[in-house]
Order: sequence, then structure tokens, then C-alpha cells
Amino acid sequence: MKKVGITGVGKYLPGKVLTNADLEKMVDTSDEWILTRTGIRERRLVAKNEAASDLAINASIEALKDAKVKPQDLDLIIVATVTPDMQFPSVACILQNAISAKKAICFDISAACAGFIYAIVTAQQFIARGVCKNALVVGSEVLSSVTDWQDRNTCVLLGDGAGAAVLSEVRSGGIISSYLRADGSYVDLLKMPGGGSRIPATHKSIDQRLHYLKMQGNELFRMAVNSMVEAAEIALKQAGLACSGVDLLIPHQANVRIIQAVAKRLNLSMDRVYLNIERYGNMSSASAATALCDAVKESRVKKGDIIVLDAFGAGLVWGACVIKW
Ligand code: ACO
Repeated sequence: MKKVGITGVGKYLPGKVLTNADLEKMVDTSDEWILTRTGIRERRLVAKNEAASDLAINASIEALKDAKVKPQDLDLIIVATVTPDMQFPSVACILQNAISAKKAICFDISAACAGFIYAIVTAQQFIARGVCKNALVVGSEVLSSVTDWQDRNTCVLLGDGAGAAVLSEVRSGGIISSYLRADGSYVDLLKMPGGGSRIPATHKSIDQRLHYLKMQGNELFRMAVNSMVEAAEIALKQAGLACSGVDLLIPHQANVRIIQAVAKRLNLSMDRVYLNIERYGNMSSASAATALCDAVKESRVKKGDIIVLDAFGAGLVWGACVIKW
């Protein structure tokens, strides 16, 4: 089996900024509530007609440049998203055409907020077995397209963005271990009921607001902490490492209180945890992807560091990945 590492990262955040003060004018909320309950100050929103593939293209171009890999040398493109441009074809195919990566096989992964980690571990298998040489993995979301802007329980949490990583064979370091899990008995905790084959779009389904994300936040909060702790602990154990050996935890950014609780249970001080939730909110699969990119660009990750990607989301799905940078 070949060693697989991340050789380049990129991100793209759309230009429009929606602040907590803006939200105060839209629903019954306050900057104080949002900041203290979630850690979010502002989030980005796409422009009219901007879709998940547009964000993915920009993030991918940056990641390919960073990795010094040409699009024509990509063998695989995986896009993790729950807000694709359309039901089909995949965002990965739209991206492949846009960047002229003609050789790459393409598919999307639906694993919500854990999508970027699910996609990284999937791409790793292709490269480790020698099926592919270079893979592009993207987390791209336009959550504003499924946000109910009348529901204060959810609309204050979400944002749009994309992060990308190039994976290739490496001589040393790379992905040391990973742990993925799912539990479909909790599908109702977080879902978008309308728009699929169960409830196709009708006037009635739209009137009933079924094409928006629905969430039971309290229950998810508890599940998120337990799952992310479990994933990090098991992945670290498989890597033969203790929590004390972690240089930087890069978690999914759903709520700063979830992240603080996870860090506490893992006995990690917050200076060893990367946060970008304040600026971007929860961007589902794009959260861990952009956090990884930001952490690298801000020199929070140095060669030889042990980092842990850790995420949790609708499904439920969760997982972690230990990487020697
Ligand atoms: N502004 C003001 N008040 C609000 C708002 C708001 N935006 N939202 C809810 N409230 C109110 C509630 O109505 C409730 O009022 P009540 O006591 O009168 O009924 C009160 O605040 C407390 O509500 P809780 O739901 O108990 O608040 P909590 O502290 O749990 O925070 C939150 C809610 C932020 C949603 C939290 O539960 C959370 O982060 N959950 C996890 C979210 C998550 O991990 N999602 C998974 C990933 S998301 C994805 O996959 C896209």
C-alpha cells in the first residue's frame, strides 16, 4: 500500500457578508445570543446564480496550484456536498469539465458535515492501491439555498463556501489512520424532507416549507460531542498516538461550544484547536475543508505536525483522520 498525503490546499468564500446585525433585522434574534450560543459573528453568502460548482472551481484551482498538479494529471475528483447544483449530474463532473481534468473519474459524496473526511478517506483508498495517482477532494456548499430564513433556530448557523485538497502519493508522513462511522437511526435529527423521490417538489411541499433544512439542535449537540470525541480517540489509537501528540485539531465548525467540549474531553487546550466558525459559520462539508486550508496558510500547520480532522453531521455520520503533515 502506498503512503497518501495532502499535497495542496485551497478555498473559496463568496463575497457577500451576512453579519449577526443583519440577521437581527430578519428574525427575532440578537448578536449577543448568536455569538454566545454558537461563536458565529458573520457568514458568507453566494451571489445570485452562484452554485456549489462555482465555489468548488475556485477552491480547486487554488489547491491544484498549491500542489503544483496540473488538472490533466488528476485521476479522480470527489466533491462532498449536500447542496449540489442539481440532483444530477454530479458537481464533480461539472468541476471536471470546468478545469479540463479530462482523465479524472468523478463522483459526489453525500455525507453532510463529515463529507470532506469521508471523501479524503475514499480518495486515499484509490491512491493507496495504485488505482489513481492524483486526486482532488472538495467540500463545497451553498447552504443558503436550503436555509429557511424565517427559522431563527437554523438560519443564524449556516454559511456558504468551499475548500479543496489535492491528494497524492508521498514518501513520508501523510494519512496515518482514519475512522468513519454512520448511524442511520437518527436520520430525522437533521434533514431536508422535500425535493427527493419521497417528496418531489409540488406547490404543497413548497407551501409546507419542506425544501428547507430542519434540525433538532439540542439532541444533535450531545451526539456531536460524543461522536467527535469517539472518532478522534479511535483514529489516534489506531495511529499509535495519544491526544498529547496532537499539534492541531481541525474540527467541523458547527458550534464553538461543541468544539470546546470536544477539546476538553480530549484534554486539548484551545490553542491546539483551529477555529474559523466566527467568520464563516457552519458550512457543512466545506467547514473542515476551509479550516484545513486556513490553518495551513496561516502557518498553524508545519511540516512534521500531527493534525486531526474530525467531523460530524446529518445521517448521522462522523469520522476522523490523523495526518502527519
Ligand atoms: N436567537 C434567539 N433565540 C434563539 C435562537 C436565535 N437564533 N434560536 C433558538 N433560540 C431560542 C430557542 O427558541 C429557545 O427558547 P426557549 O427556551 O424559549 O424555548 C432558546 O433559544 C434555547 O434554545 P436551545 O435550542 O436550547 O439552544 P441551544 O443552546 O441548544 O443552541 C444550537 C441551539 C445553537 C442550534 C445548538 O443546539 C447547536 O449548535 N446544536 C448542534 C448543531 C449541529 O451540530 N448541527 C449538525 C451539523 S449542521 C449540518 O449538518 C448542516
